[in-house]
Parts: sequence; structure tokens; C-alpha cells
Amino acid sequence: MTETSLFENAHIVLRDSEFQGWIAVDGGLIVDMGEGRAPERGLDCRGDILAPGFVELHTDHLESHLRPRPKVDWPARMSIVAYDAQMVASGITTVFDSVRVGNDADYVAARNDASNLVGEIAAAADEGVLRARHRTHLRCEICAEDAVEAAADVINAYQVDLMSLMDHTPGARQFASIEAWKTYYGGKSGLPETHLQKLMDRKRELFAKNYTRHRAALVAMAHNGGVAIASHDDTNSGHVEESIADRVSLAEFPTSVLAARLSHEAGISVLMGAPNVVRGGSHSGNVAAEALAREGLLDILSSDYVPASLLMGAFGLAQRIKGYGLPRAIRTISYNPARAANIHDRGEIAIGQAADLVRIINQDKGPIVREVYRDGVRVF
Ligand SMILES: [Fe+2]
Repeated sequence: MTETSLFENAHIVLRDSEFQGWIAVDGGLIVDMGEGRAPERGLDCRGDILAPGFVELHTDHLESHLRPRPKVDWPARMSIVAYDAQMVASGITTVFDSVRVGNDADYVAARNDASNLVGEIAAAADEGVLRARHRTHLRCEICAEDAVEAAADVINAYQVDLMSLMDHTPGARQFASIEAWKTYYGGKSGLPETHLQKLMDRKRELFAKNYTRHRAALVAMAHNGGVAIASHDDTNSGHVEESIADRVSLAEFPTSVLAARLSHEAGISVLMGAPNVVRGGSHSGNVAAEALAREGLLDILSSDYVPASLLMGAFGLAQRIKGYGLPRAIRTISYNPARAANIHDRGEIAIGQAADLVRIINQDKGPIVREVYRDGVRVF
């Protein structure tokens, strides 16, 4: 595939500013840019927006391709290829594939499932059939009996780039409201009320038995492997203190303004779901991402369970929050997640950065991804 060497007549979004002009690309890198007319003819962007390729740190969308219906398993390679295509169609050029370890109420896996999946994604990438750059985000359900062994299996065999430490015990964090927990798990599992009560008791037992020692083991594993750690659903100051002590670099979905503020002030990047911005609030009844953005506490958006929400969420912030601006909004889906995940060669439109670019048309009903380039080569 050949790379496009010049993009002209574009509305270019830099890290802190925006302008009408052109970008020159060579060898997969951005090598020059300027305002107004381009020095030579290139791809005419017709005034469309040109943004850096998006960086997605937490998508669980692969799961809906692997298991399109309860108890229906789709072939892994074809699921990965379809998921990858959907990522780039959403403007995402670097994606952290969420792979879960630790058997939970709504997720039961064989011990080698996570390893097999990471291996299959790596094989597909090696064979050149994937469009986005793929990294691994290992989501660890801390209290599950098999969490530590299953995480070790993956880390010992493959490159892992991010590890999140999750606890979904009813009555805490994401599910401070027992009713919200029942709605979520009852809906996902289809279990009747009596079973849900038993499950709740079991989860509380597992918390008492495993939380402290499993968390310590997982944190040690991450630090030994040089893997960045994300906290998950931090709610109170105790949670954030624990995250700071564990040298966490990313706070996924803090559920309160307090936890977001304490994390942000401690230099921990605050990540919230873009669907939360699009919907105007959290489906679990927790703090709204937009409210955090208004307070200056939101660093990163993630598409979570709807890939296309990433761009919609960023535009939503720029449109609804006075003075927010498009560069700052685009930073939440490109520069900020890249740097939080220790990626420095891409994530913004700047000379010397990889030419990962998204051409966007902004229509009345919302922004639409028109073209996507990775290392200067069109992938969508
Ligand atoms: Fe959660």
C-alpha cells in the first residue's frame, strides 16, 4: 500500500490549536505542515477536519464479536478481524484490546482463554491482516479465585502494556447501589432474584478472602514486568490512596468527583466512558463524565462498549462546554491516552510524529469518520 504524501485544504487540529492548511507525510511520519495553500497538489480534504488517530485504552467491544449471543462462540480470528475493522472505522488507530482474566459472575473462561486470545491477536498482527496497532490491556477481576494465575499465564507468554485492577463486589465502587448491581448482573446473567442473593453473598466472601493478597500479587507482577497499572471504579479517598501507593498511572471510571479530583491532582490520568458523555450520564448511576470535564478533571475518554462513541463524546464536550474547544476535546482521545500509556511516537499532529490521521466531516447529526490513515497509509 502506498502512503498519501500531502493532505491539503484541511481543518487541522493540533494539540493546542487549529488552522486551515496542509500536512506533508514521508516515510510514515509527519514531516511538514503549513497554513493556507499547499506548496504542491495533494489529497484535497475539502475543508474537512484532520485529527490525530485516536488511541483507545479500554474497549470491551471484542467480546461482543467473540460471543455475539449468550453461549455462541464465534471463530477467534474472524472476530478479531471484524473488531479491528470497526476500530479503524471509528477513527481508532491504536487500540488496547481488553482481555479479561478472573472468572466472574457474568464471565466464565477457561484458564488459557486469555492467553489464546492475546496470541491470536499477535499472530493476526504479525501476518499483516490488522489495520489498527494493537496493544494488550489485561483486565484483572481481583477477587476471582483464579485471577493471579490467569494473569501470570498471559504476562509470562506475551507483551502486556496495561493492567487494570477491578473489583465488582456488590455494595462498593461501580455498584455502591445494590439495586444497580442487581440490574446489571441480573440482566447479563438472567439469574432469578434468589440466585442473585446467593451470588452476592459469594462475591462478598471472595472479597474478604482474596482482595488484599491478590491485589498485592497483581501489583507486584505489573511492576516486575514494567506494565502500567490502571485503577478501576475508585470511589472514595481510601481507594485513591491505595492507587497512589500502588503507583497507578491511570484511573478508569472513578465514580465520584472526589475520587476523580484526588486522582487527577496526584498525576493519575482520569479516564471516563465516552458513552457516558453521549448519554448524558452513567448507566450505573455514578458521576457524569461531562461534569468532570467541566471541573477540568477529565483527561481521557474511552469508547468502552460503543466504538463510535469516542468521536461523538469528544465532539460533545467541545460543543456543550463553553470555552472547551476542539483541540482540548480531541486531546482526550489521542494525546492524553497515548502519553498515559507511555506511547510517545504518535497521538498528536506534530512534525516527527507518526502520520496516524482521521479525516472527519461534521454534520448536524454528529461527526462522521470519512477516512483513516495509519503511518500515512489509508486503512479506512
Ligand atoms: Fe467496573
